[in-house]
Amino acid sequence: MSPGDATGPQRLLIRDLAQVVTPAGLSAPLRGAALGRIDVVVDAYVLCEDGRVSGVGPMRRLGSIDGEVEEVDGRGLSAVPGLVDCHTHACFAGDRVDEFALRAAGAGYEELHARGGGILSTVRATREAGEVGLAAALERHVGWMLRAGTTTFEAKSGYGLDRETELIQLRVIEAAGGVPTWLGAHAVPPEFAEVGVDAYVEFLLGDVLPDAAKVAEAADVFLERGAFAVEQARRYLVACRAAGLELRLHGDQFTEAGAVPLAVELGARSVDHLESTGPEGIALLAASDVVGVLLPASAIFLGRPMPPARALVDAGAAVALATDFNPGSAFCESLPLVCSLAATQLRLAPEEALAACTVNAAHVLARAERKGRLAPGFDADAVLVAADDWRHLAYHLGGDVVHTVIQGGRIAWSCTA
Ligand code: NIG
Ligand code: FE
Repeated sequence: MSPGDATGPQRLLIRDLAQVVTPAGLSAPLRGAALGRIDVVVDAYVLCEDGRVSGVGPMRRLGSIDGEVEEVDGRGLSAVPGLVDCHTHACFAGDRVDEFALRAAGAGYEELHARGGGILSTVRATREAGEVGLAAALERHVGWMLRAGTTTFEAKSGYGLDRETELIQLRVIEAAGGVPTWLGAHAVPPEFAEVGVDAYVEFLLGDVLPDAAKVAEAADVFLERGAFAVEQARRYLVACRAAGLELRLHGDQFTEAGAVPLAVELGARSVDHLESTGPEGIALLAASDVVGVLLPASAIFLGRPMPPARALVDAGAAVALATDFNPGSAFCESLPLVCSLAATQLRLAPEEALAACTVNAAHVLARAERKGRLAPGFDADAVLVAADDWRHLAYHLGGDVVHTVIQGGRIAWSCTA
């Protein structure tokens, strides 16, 4: 092995892979039958050059390569695109292990929130951490995600709920290489408990949005009983859209409170959760360009019903999969585990699950032209799965399936290091 020199191109050749797999075609988002179509090359190589994929093909077609190239032995491994986690709350301080134990003993998630715990306990820890503490916590969480194969991640604010901490969260996420989403409308903080939700929305839009919009790419709102109602969500999202942000919604997690119709009305990028979505919401979403982001780790962590994934896909809706990684409802950074849950709980084929957390997740983040496929011209992000059949990614429930992670054409993590 010899790394590229300072003057020549930086090249990485992954050779003798059992399989190289990528969602078929070039369009995004994938829906219907197209969601399950993949291209598989056996006994294959992937060549990366200056951060991009420059070639994929069978070993027998690999010609000689002039100049310096670093080589990775892919024998017994399969390559899939680097995983894209389009919905996380990874920027948090502290944990909620006490709450987890209380829930195991029967306490309800919404009940804990209503008592000032839940999200608000993470808000207290996050405010106290400050910028340096929060950056360190996020770095730790990003390391976990990387080792699970995530090469592109989104993360939301929403644990500050004051001007200073919301902006710190967005800056820290951007500095860690994440895609920042402003989730000011996550919960109403204690200092607004007396004056009410409308006054808090007023504060968010007047005092935080102008600066949040300079860093964030999208805005998100928790539209749910006990959080924000549809009129408050509409007001928040319309103002965020006018400030240039893409729109996302947490919707239908516990109740159908109008999130899907609002997402469609406003042309949101996605509506996420959908554990409570019924037939009308499924039909509405299927007829729209809004992506339904499914979070089965959150459903299982809270003991909630699974979202109607099969019905959504069969109706023609575009769906993505994400972890929802956060300390309260989904302490889970692993997209491979989410793929296992998709196959076992959501009745998605492994191929559909792969497309949902690569191409379609990249589409949610407006990055499908560069991310989510392992094909020439795309960013050289890949996961080398520790099996000669890539479907072990979903098959090995909670297993050590990630052998090596390539990010931007370099080895970002390897179990051999
Ligand atoms: O997506 N539902 C709202 N927000 C997060 C949970 C955040 C938390 O519990 O800290 C979610 O599940
Ligand atoms: Fe979430």
